[in-house]
Amino acid sequence: MIQKPPGVEDIFPDRISKFNHIIHTAKEVFTLYNYREVILPIMEYTEVFARGIGDATDIVTKEMFTFEDRGGRSLTLRPEGTASMVRAYVENGEYNRLALCKFFYHGPMFRAERPQKGRLRQFNQFGAEVFGSDNPWYDFEIISLMNEIARRLGITEYNLLINSIGCPDCRKPYVGELFNYYTTHVNELCDDCKKRLHTNPLRLLDCKVEGCIELKQNAPKINQYLCTSCNEHFHQTINLLQQHSINYIHDPLLVRGLDYYTKTTFEFVTTKLGGQNAFAAGGRYNNLVELFGGKPTPAVGFAAGIERIELLLEQLSVKEYLDVYIVYSGDNALPFVMQMAEQLRRDNISCDFDPHAKGFKTQFKRADRENARFSLIFGEDEVKNNTATIKDMSSGEQVTVKSDVITTFLKEKLGKS
Ligand code: HAM
Repeated sequence: MIQKPPGVEDIFPDRISKFNHIIHTAKEVFTLYNYREVILPIMEYTEVFARGIGDATDIVTKEMFTFEDRGGRSLTLRPEGTASMVRAYVENGEYNRLALCKFFYHGPMFRAERPQKGRLRQFNQFGAEVFGSDNPWYDFEIISLMNEIARRLGITEYNLLINSIGCPDCRKPYVGELFNYYTTHVNELCDDCKKRLHTNPLRLLDCKVEGCIELKQNAPKINQYLCTSCNEHFHQTINLLQQHSINYIHDPLLVRGLDYYTKTTFEFVTTKLGGQNAFAAGGRYNNLVELFGGKPTPAVGFAAGIERIELLLEQLSVKEYLDVYIVYSGDNALPFVMQMAEQLRRDNISCDFDPHAKGFKTQFKRADRENARFSLIFGEDEVKNNTATIKDMSSGEQVTVKSDVITTFLKEKLGKS
């Protein structure tokens, strides 16, 4: 038997209904906020991520699925959507069309991480990005979007952590201070952090090794180093959250595993997911468009992990329904049933039947398993009298109707007329 590689999943219909419900809810909210969908390639030239996410990040140094195409160019399966989105925004000259663009996307991402519950090598994200404004309103809007998606999905137990990591100007002296602090504690650092200290000291705040977590508590905090503009931007963002009753926790040590952020960073975290506590995260990235050769364009966005949200919704039962299951007796009825099924589908009524149908009991069991709202019954009497009996599967109520009004009757009952 050939098995799938570690960290990837087969998602069967019992999970698909929840999966689709999550994506459908996100899409509904994106549309309310006037975000437009884009479909981006699953693979990109490796430099998109090396340049976009940052050469020294864990994602780029350890976690990318990279391979050569036949011409010897390095390709990578996308580990996230933002760098691709920026590449596409610049390549297609989107800023020439609209000064402010709001996009959303969803789809699979790939990271060669150590698989565990809530941490996969192929996982799915939905996300949104706004290009063209540094106004804190959009930092707020992006957070508010995710907050509304969580509310509609019924996710209640979570915290929103927020911070500002400043701009390159104010971050520079801060990173210098961080370097000095950690240099005095270098012997207490894990091996990875000893290296990171020289490549990217900010990353040390993100380390999950116990000793490093302890050291972090006394590390210098960025808020004392923010320049006036970054400080104002941060306070305007959190004022908007307050005005709109979105609770948050200011975590001055929150940094993210991707290098492109400037100013706002945030994470939606919960204790319900064990080690993988973030189910959505994002922030502002005002310099990335320029880094990809576009004209300077401030931007902000977020992405959420669909499988992690699915784990949070484990208790929630989301069913997919079939409108009608056709139950019949006798081979004589079969040609009529086949025609009926095709007619119903043309009329946008989903339906199914079994061409090898045995007894009524087995067929009703199948109707239950398929979550049919109605069963349409053709017994001997019905066929003789040119009628059908329609059974409401939740109330058990039955009515007999003439053949020529079946569709009209069902459409009305299903709210499709
Ligand atoms: P990220 O924090 O790397 O940010 O990922 C966002 C979310 O994707 C995480 O909060 C988590 O729910 C999910 N996720 C990440 N890795 C895995 C994994 N291995 N298995 C399962 N779920 C995972 C980004 O990707 C940025 N592009 C967010 C962003 C958009 N920032 C600005 N715009």
